[in-house]
This record gives sequence, structure tokens and C-alpha cells, in this order.
Amino acid sequence: MNRDQELYLIKNIAELLNKETDLTSMLQQVLDKLLHLTGLQTGWIFLLDEKQHYTLAASSRLPEALAYENKRYLCEGRCYCINQYIDGRLKEAANIIECKRIEDAIRSDRGKIDDITHHASVPLKSGEELFGILNVAAPGKNSFTQDELHILESIAYQIGSAYERIRLSEKEKTMKVFEERNRLARDLHDSVNQQLFSIMYTATGVKRQTKDPLVNAALKDIHSMSKDALAQMKALIWQLRSDRVEEGLANRLGTYSKKLGLTLITTGQFTSIPSQIEVGLWKIGQEALNNISKHSGSNTCTISLKEDSLYYEMKVSDSGKGFKPDTLTSDGMGLISMKERASLLGGSFCIESAAEQGTTITITVLKRGEPGD
Ligand SMILES: Nc1ncnc2c1ncn2[C@@H]1O[C@H](COP(=O)(O)OP(=O)(O)OP(=O)(O)O)[C@@H](O)[C@H]1O
Ligand SMILES: [Mg+2]
Repeated sequence: MNRDQELYLIKNIAELLNKETDLTSMLQQVLDKLLHLTGLQTGWIFLLDEKQHYTLAASSRLPEALAYENKRYLCEGRCYCINQYIDGRLKEAANIIECKRIEDAIRSDRGKIDDITHHASVPLKSGEELFGILNVAAPGKNSFTQDELHILESIAYQIGSAYERIRLSEKEKTMKVFEERNRLARDLHDSVNQQLFSIMYTATGVKRQTKDPLVNAALKDIHSMSKDALAQMKALIWQLRSDRVEEGLANRLGTYSKKLGLTLITTGQFTSIPSQIEVGLWKIGQEALNNISKHSGSNTCTISLKEDSLYYEMKVSDSGKGFKPDTLTSDGMGLISMKERASLLGGSFCIESAAEQGTTITITVLKRGEPGD
């Protein structure tokens, strides 16, 4: 690349980054543009979180072997560049001599590799904080010149600034949603909740004043319905207020089951779980407990949390009256949204239930890119 081409590249990338407001789209577009303007063949970007779990955030023009099975060789296991990043050795743009992912894909004979054997790795930083890796490669190219590495580094700095800007704006949006949910929870608590409470106590008070059996029965119903509604409203308010799982999934589900008046036995726990999966399982667990409280007729249940090197598993069971999932005609949303949430996590959802045999739901989520794989 001559100077003019370099300047053109940097200006184009800066223009693009300046416009982007979405992180995933920003990373994908900058990668596409970088490859297009430099003539490099392929590239991919990993993002790493504070627990050092990585995700493949963008990839472009991958050879067949790396695109194989949903980019399996890029999504699974560890490699030299991730190891260097985690050990703190990837401080600047570097020629990665070999790539374990490319080697694995070649060894397993998963299709064409287009003569891609090596890649350059560039750390992505926002200030001093490392947040990802940009990898680029070209056919037959087994090393990058210092000039090429400098250009890649300057693009990585630009990506870092755009990343920080987008992250701050997303944080602000999340805070606004969080504040709005808290406001809604407060309003519900101060209005509907208090009114249900008054209805419940008014019914008890009036019941004492009348001897008419019909009126008495009606007041008893009003009392019990408002009591149930109050319990559900409390659970809803609590749900609105708490989307965070800081104290761990098992504890959080334990607290929630108490709000619903359930006795929960929990076995096992997850030692280290990406926060996105934990939040997903938390929401599925909440709905499973809601269903037990509403439909099972039982007030005891168990949750088992298991993990091994490949997957996380959560099972929620009750020994209540059960139902026939195949013949269900309910227009409820709970089972559908549990299934959807599981699939958004890339996991599976299974429900086993039969009349008088209780109900068990099982969610299994495959681990991807865990440290230590
Ligand atoms: N643990 C359970 N025990 C017995 N029946 C259940 C259980 N879980 C679900 N069901 C049955 O499956 C139906 C569908 O559940 P789903 O969660 O989809 O809807 P819902 O709870 O009725 O309404 P929503 O969740 O939208 O408030 C329920 O109406 C109930 O008949
Ligand atoms: Mg439900």
C-alpha cells in the first residue's frame, strides 16, 4: 500500500466508524471495509468479557474450512492469540506464527482453506482496557510487514474509540430502561398493590358484619382472589426491579420462590457462567416457578444446576398435577417464551409432564469459548 492508499483507508474507516451506533454492526462493517480496501482475504473479531469468555463478534469472507458448521473452528476452544491476550502478551499488533484454529480445520479436512495459514492479531483497546482481538489473513501470507502492522494498529485505535462511544451510549440507554422499570415498580406498588390490600381487608371486615351465607361465601372469594392477586403483583414488582443476577442464580431463584410461597430445594451450582446465559436461565427459571405456583397445585419444587466441560443444565421440577404438553390448548405465553429464550442462548428446552406425575423442564446450553477448553 502506498501513502495515498493508506490515507484513503484511514479516512474511509473513520467515516464509517463515526456513523455507526450499533456495536455488532460497527464491527462487521469495519472488518468488511478493511478487507475490501487492503485486499486482505479474510478476518474475524473476537470480543472478550471480564471473565475472559470470548465470542466471535464478526467475520468476513472466511474460507470454507473456517466457515464449516456455523464457524465452529472459530467459536470453540482456545488458540494462541486468545492465550496471548489473556496472558497479557498481546500488547500490540503481532504476526501470529501459527493459528491453532486454522490447523484444526485443516487437520479435520473440513473443506478449502484457500491457502490461509497464518494471521496477524491486533489487540482492540479502549483506553488501557483490552476488549477484543482483530485477526486478518491473506492467501500464502505468512508474515506482515511493520508498516502493515502499524496501519492495522491505527485502525484498531479507531475501533477502540468507536467501541467506547457506542458502549457509553448503550449504557445510558440501559440505565434509562432500568430507571423506567423502577418507576413502574414503584407506581404499581403505591397504586394497584395498595388497592388490592384494601380490598382484601375490606372483605375480611365486611365478612365479620354479616351472617348471610351467600354474601359470606362471596366475600371469602373476594378475600382469597385479592390475596392471590396481591402475591402475584408482589412477584411482578420484584421481577421489574431485579434483572440482575449478582448474588448467583441459585440464590436469586430461591428468593423468588419464597415470594411465590413455594418451598424450593436447590442442588448444584455453576462455578463460572457468562452473564448473558445466567440472565437467560434466570428468566426461564422465574417463569417455570410462576407456572408451578399457578398451575401445579403443589408448593414444593426442586431446581438442579449442573455443568460439565461441554454444557450448563438447569432442571426445574415439581410433583404436582402435571399436564399433557402435546394436547395443550392454552393461549399462555410462558412456555413459548421459555423455549424462545433457550434457543436465543443457543440451547435446548425440553418439557416432561403427565397427569398426576408432575412436571420437569430441562434447559441445556452448550458452552462456547470457555477458558480452559
Ligand atoms: N408446572 C406445571 N404444572 C401443571 N401445569 C402446567 C405447568 N406448567 C405449565 N402448565 C400448563 O401449561 C399451560 C401453559 O403454560 P404457559 O406458561 O405457557 O401459560 P400460562 O401460565 O397459562 O400463562 P402465562 O405464562 O402467559 O401467564 C398452563 O396454562 C398450564 O395448563
Ligand atoms: Mg406461565
